[in-house]
Amino acid sequence: LLKRSFSTSPSMNLIKNITVIGGGLMGSGIAQVAAQTGHNVNLVDLNIDILKKTESSIGASLSRVAKKLYKDKPEDGEKFVQDTKNRLKTSTDVTASVKDADLVIEAIVENMEVKHKLFKSLDEVAPAKTIFVSNTSSFSITEISSVTKRGDRFGGMHFFNPVPVMKLVEVIKTANTSEGTHTELLACGKAMGKVCITCKDTPGFVVNRLLVPYLLEAIKLLERGDASAKDIDTAMKLGAGYPMGPLELADYVGHDTTLAIIEGWYKRFPDNSLFKPSESLKQLVKDGKLEKELLEALQHLP
Ligand code: CAA
Ligand code: NAD
Repeated sequence: LLKRSFSTSPSMNLIKNITVIGGGLMGSGIAQVAAQTGHNVNLVDLNIDILKKTESSIGASLSRVAKKLYKDKPEDGEKFVQDTKNRLKTSTDVTASVKDADLVIEAIVENMEVKHKLFKSLDEVAPAKTIFVSNTSSFSITEISSVTKRGDRFGGMHFFNPVPVMKLVEVIKTANTSEGTHTELLACGKAMGKVCITCKDTPGFVVNRLLVPYLLEAIKLLERGDASAKDIDTAMKLGAGYPMGPLELADYVGHDTTLAIIEGWYKRFPDNSLFKPSESLKQLVKDGKLEKELLEALQHLP
């Protein structure tokens, strides 16, 4: 699988030029993996300072990948890193970056208004052939695509953090996504070295529909004082074989992300008690305590 993952001549894949919009946690990983697997990549973000940070995190991640793949041939590893970097261009100019794009992958902030504004303008400047996808964690792809005139060439590609390591991509097919588009997205995901599954356009698709309520239940277990944070995480690692416990994973995903997902779903599905946000999680995010502080703060709750 590893060798196939890094093949630079993906067969059947018609997508060669990929534009990734958003160079944060997810976009940087997606752009890196696309370039590693032989695609020409344009990575777009709002300003040069963000892009400089993105380039540096991609460089660090590429070195880890090269070390693993070419442990006996470091000079081949250096060539792999350089070739990948040569295929990856960064820019702040959205219009120019989509001029030749076969596929645009959106990985910007999880805010519907901002995503709508972006896709509306992209739809006006991108060639008719260009397929659009969103990497959204929780929004409806149909709703995101509603501002464009290319519902048939619009789908979802949901990657997982850390993208260079996690092997899955959920490929989302809406009622409007054409069979041809869906087939191309599956081939592209495969050419990026990932295993693809197909899912309808439902809240959280497969992974987050199961994972996010699980993370929230772990936080509620801790709030009630049923077990310590350490014991909850140890239990799920050793009792269920997860690589991280739920509280460590909630830290890793980001509490603001988890809260945004659950609040959005609770608004849409108020009768589902699994989606009811935890009050302490809301307060911690409000206080700007997004990461490690959660565990500590929850430990001290009465
Ligand atoms: N880039 C490149 N390589 C990386 C990397 C990165 N960013 N992060 C880790 N690696 C590599 C390491 O180099 C290491 O390689 P070797 O095996 O050759 O040493 C390997 O991955 C394992 O990493 P570590 O030894 O540092 O640590 P680990 O064994 O604890 O694994 C982990 C780290 C892969 C993150 C693992 O803990 C894990 O799988 N955690 C669960 C992650 C998860 O569930 N992600 C999904 C989150 S939900 C989501 O993303 C969806 C959403 O919409 C919110
Ligand atoms: P992030 O905050 O790390 O990165 C978002 C980036 O988008 C930032 O660098 C920001 O400057 C940039 N951006 C914002 N508006 C932009 C615009 N109009 N044009 C260009 N760039 C813009 O966010 P992230 O965690 O990478 O999440 C991105 C998307 O991926 C979200 O939709 C999120 O739900 C989804 N997602 C997140 C995870 C996760 O674990 N964090 C996993 C899977 C999917």
